This record gives sequence, C-alpha cells and structure tokens, in this order.
Amino acid sequence: KAEAKVEINGSKYKTDSWFNTPPNIIANVPRRLHLQKDHPVYITRQIIESVFPGPTYKYHNTFNPVVTTQQNFDSLGFPKDHPGRAKTDTYYINESTLLRTHTSAHQADTFRANLSPGYLISADVYRRDEVDRSHYPVFHQMEGAHSWDRNSVPNGDVAAAVWSDVEKLPTHDTKVEDPNPPFHAERNPLQSDHHSAAEAEAIGAHLKRSLELMVVEIFTRAKAAAKKADPNFVDEPLKVRWVEAYFPFTSPSWELEVYYAGDWLEVLGCGVVQQSLYINAGVPNQLGWAFGIGLERIAMLLFNIPDIRLFWSRDERFLNQFAGVSDNLDTLKRFDVSFWLKATSSAGGNAKQANKHDFHENDVMEIVRGIAGDVVEDVKLVDQFTHPKSGRKSMCYRINYRSLERTLTNAETNDMHDRVTKALVDELGVEIR
Ligand code: PHE
Repeated sequence: KAEAKVEINGSKYKTDSWFNTPPNIIANVPRRLHLQKDHPVYITRQIIESVFPGPTYKYHNTFNPVVTTQQNFDSLGFPKDHPGRAKTDTYYINESTLLRTHTSAHQADTFRANLSPGYLISADVYRRDEVDRSHYPVFHQMEGAHSWDRNSVPNGDVAAAVWSDVEKLPTHDTKVEDPNPPFHAERNPLQSDHHSAAEAEAIGAHLKRSLELMVVEIFTRAKAAAKKADPNFVDEPLKVRWVEAYFPFTSPSWELEVYYAGDWLEVLGCGVVQQSLYINAGVPNQLGWAFGIGLERIAMLLFNIPDIRLFWSRDERFLNQFAGVSDNLDTLKRFDVSFWLKATSSAGGNAKQANKHDFHENDVMEIVRGIAGDVVEDVKLVDQFTHPKSGRKSMCYRINYRSLERTLTNAETNDMHDRVTKALVDELGVEIR
C-alpha cells in the first residue's frame, strides 16, 4: 500500500494520523511575506534589522518552516503535556513533524552553529487559533539573541564585559517603567546553578536597553508616518513598561508593553536564555539573552493596517501604497563611532565643548564632512560617559550616510566610515573603543 505523502515547498513528507494541515495553509507556505520587497512585513523586518547591525548580528531569513517536535518543543524545554503541543493548537505533518509555531524552533540550531555573537531570525509561523481582525493562522515572527563567551571576555568576567557593551549602546529618552527587581526567587528566578546575580543583571540590562531602542525606532517611524498622513495627529510621548513573564526557555523572562492609542500593548517576549540550551547545543561557555516579536502586529501600527487579512492581499491597490519604501530605508546607512578622549582630558563639560583642551564638536563635524561630503546626512552625539575609575571620558557619535542621488553600496559606506574613523584618530588624537 502506498504511503500517504504531502508536498510542501517542493519536498515530500510522510503523513500519519497526526496530519491536520489543510491545503489552504500549505498554499501559504511559499508566500514568505518577509522576503517580498516593499511588503509591510518586509519593511518592518528591515526597520528592526537596522537596530541590530552586522557583523555583531547575523540575519537568517530562509529557514525551512517544516521542523521536528524536537526543534519546536523538546529543545526548548517544553514539558510533554504542554498545551502548545496539542493537535488542536498546532499544524502537524506527522507525529514528529510540524509547521513551526514560533521562530524559537531555530534557537538551539543557531546557537550550535555559533556563527556570530548575535542573530536575527525572521520567518513565517503557523498556529491554529481564534479568527478575528488580529489573528491569522500564518504570521511572521522575528527572533533575536545575543551571547557572550566566558572564554573570550577579559579575565572571564562576563558581567564586566556585558556592562561595557551596555555602555556602547546608544541612549534614548523614552519613559520606561520597570518596577520589578532584575530577578525574583519565586516569580522570575535567576538560574543560580549557572549564572551569578551580577551576570544575570548585566545580561538583563543589555537586553532591556537593546529592545527599548528597537521600540523607540519603530514608534518614532510610526508617528512620523501618522503625522504625514494626518497633520492634526497628536503626538503623545512614547511610554513603555517591562512586566514579568514566563517562557520554558528563558529565566528570568519579561514582556515589553507599549502605551499606544490609549492601551498597553504587549509587543514582545524575552529573557535570559536557559543555560540548558547552550549546553545541549555544545556551547556550554556561552550565555545571553533572546527575544521574539510578531511582525504583523507591529506593521499594523506602523502602517495603520486595520485587518491582518490584508497582508495576504495580492491587490495592487493595497501593495502599491508601500512601493519604494524598502529602497528608501536602504538608502540610509547608519554608523556609530565610539572613542575615548585623550587621557589628559579633563572630564565633564557640555556636549558641544566636549573638552576645551581637545576639540570643539564642530571639529568632528568638519572631519566627517571633509571625507563624506554631501553624503553625510547628520552627525549626532548619542552617548557620553565617564569611566568611574579612570575618569576617562568616552563619546559616541552616530553618523547617517545617505546620498540624495543614488543608493550607496555597503562596501563604499564601510570604506568611507573607516576613513572617517581614521581621521578622527589622526586629527583629534582620540582612541577608538
Ligand atoms: N517564542 C516566544 C513566543 O512565540 C517568544 C520568545 C522568544 C520569548 C524568545 C522569549 C525568548 O511567544
């Protein structure tokens, strides 16, 4: 007797009594909206990627949606009786094969591959769920993670290494409510067999600042778009808050909520990665954080899309609204340069007169313009900090390169930025961090 098979994206899979994936779901698998240029899901992915730049973060956008129960559940520590495993909630191909229900299905494999300190995974995910304006059985998620290796940080001091990375992140002035302690013995425990309190605290701080920056970037753009569409749009300051959460594969865990149009919206889930994942992935000396975010939810806010079914529309009147947006975002290349002022510098003073013994901020401007010419769009001081022990002062400038005439290639912008960095060293005597 011939075995029953189903074809998905050109590959054939054996089915059994667990098979419950209807043809209309399988028909959506090749759509991959996150890879369709100018699609709102693609644009949302692009905006988030811009906050997590390479080479620190590597992007994975083509992982196969057909995964094993091991990848989707077991590797992440889901108990055998977890409701997410039920046939009522999940599209199965056979007893051990399913359409991934979340991008976390690729966490273990990506940690094992160990290609970069951070990664972003964007992908279509599948869930049997309620039917309404904001639920569709296929949607898109993005997974992000950042890890540190005990063997490759100075003195093996992970907490110090992570804090120094926190200091390199840009700052923001959005109001953040974070009423809970960094971990809590009953509600949100530290993995005390694996992490010191200082390590978990530092990783939590890096995670929170990174995701706050992402949300600030998204909502700044959402508001700019809303204002463009409606000149009477009232711009209320963005408010975000951290709440405690639970996921089988992180601890402590949090959700980030954003106050938008009169409501607290749950935007993402995240936490300190369960050490068992790194151990099982053959990288026991690593530790770090992970998050997951739904892209349609964000795109609906960004582009004022009232119904999730619209994402699947092939109607040009819907799609043409976004024509050209991808390229327009691509034309902006953003670079940060962080440096220490000369050791002899006296710390303090205001940003403009960074250090009267060294240079005026306009000197930085002149150096950048001297190399990049009209390709530099703006230069802004995004962070400054004085080392508590050495008293040395560090500054971080953000440079946006964008040509008014053409799309810059990565290679030429990298080269330009390298020359800018070198000129800052040569002419101002600063030391790059
Ligand atoms: N996978 C989780 C979800 O779909 C989100 C998540 C990802 C939470 C990574 C923590 C870390 O809800």
